Amino acid sequence: MEEKNVFYRDTWAEIDLDALFSNISQIREYLPEDTHVFAAVKANAYGHGDIPTAKTVLAAGVHGLAVAFLDEALAIRDAGITAPILVLGATRASDAGIAARKNISLTVFQIDWLQQAEKFITSDSRLPVHIKCDTGMGRIGITDEDELRKIDTFIHQSDRFIFNGIFTHFATADQLDETYYNKQLSRFNHFLSCLETLPPYVHAANSAAALCHNDSLFNTVRIGIAMYGLTPSNEIKDILPFNRKEVFSLHTKIVHVKKLRAGEKVGYGADYTASEDEWIATLPIGYADGWIRKLRGFEVIADGEMVPLVGKICMDQTMIKLPRSMSVGTQVTLIGKQKDRFISVDDVAKKLETINYEVTCTITNRVPRVYKMSKTLDK
Ligand SMILES: Cc1ncc(COP(=O)(O)O)c(C=O)c1O
Repeated sequence: MEEKNVFYRDTWAEIDLDALFSNISQIREYLPEDTHVFAAVKANAYGHGDIPTAKTVLAAGVHGLAVAFLDEALAIRDAGITAPILVLGATRASDAGIAARKNISLTVFQIDWLQQAEKFITSDSRLPVHIKCDTGMGRIGITDEDELRKIDTFIHQSDRFIFNGIFTHFATADQLDETYYNKQLSRFNHFLSCLETLPPYVHAANSAAALCHNDSLFNTVRIGIAMYGLTPSNEIKDILPFNRKEVFSLHTKIVHVKKLRAGEKVGYGADYTASEDEWIATLPIGYADGWIRKLRGFEVIADGEMVPLVGKICMDQTMIKLPRSMSVGTQVTLIGKQKDRFISVDDVAKKLETINYEVTCTITNRVPRVYKMSKTLDK
């Protein structure tokens, strides 16, 4: 008989929903009480699992959810979640009808798009929209006030749209130098001053802005990386006003152990050579899991000890060098805590010369997510 949550390999990511709940509760306590928090659960909640993450943060008091694509929003609705959802990215105009029927807010920034989309929304529904202003990110959004006025007028004259929000996104909120941030903020304030009436949600702040710049809060913020217990950047990690705990950890178990004689080789290209007799173990995780080849030489934790990866990382397997023989089944932690050792997501990001966001997003869906939570969430 098949059982829920059963998986048949010894590699898994553990998602600490208690830590997620605590992170978001602390962020909410730090922000003014009437600030609406939208939790960024796009990209499968940065690799943490969108539905369990969404349910947990909603139980912890967030107001709504933000995703990148309509497919992500529809999957959340299909899971029975009725909270406000905003799609932050561009959506095809021809998909406006389904978004309206599911009460999913879309981001708009082109007058032609609105004219097209109007034809796909039936008279029994209305599409909530947020206008995106490009104040310096150079990605999507209107760039001048004429476009804003045209879009505003069009939305108000149409019976197919609801003007639900206006927003922008900062390019440098995670840097200590505030010059560019201030430019973007003043451009956004200028856009707002062009509107006769503000919509219900006005927002600009991501995690970094919400936690480090009070003047970016307006009445709504979009929190992603911080609720996962990760810092938006190293530059501001010491000024984050809460006691964050990483939510994501990654584990596997040794599936094979052998003694290599001095001179014997490991892995593709046979480019690792044992310099003496060495204990080598094999782990069932590889680059197809997002544990990519650039991690060669990184250290992981086996039985509480730091041990190096040796040889090239394969598609499904990785070899490590042990200080002594260990048994098959010994747990190995690749990210997270084991005994008194800890490998942070940032440690992996540093080795990969990238940002922590990319690390959790890159662990593929082949790695089962195991959810840990001590409390039961209200339905
Ligand atoms: C438009 C937008 N808003 C909010 C966020 C959340 O940002 P962060 O994870 O830095 O809080 C993102 C993330 O990329 C985004 O693209």
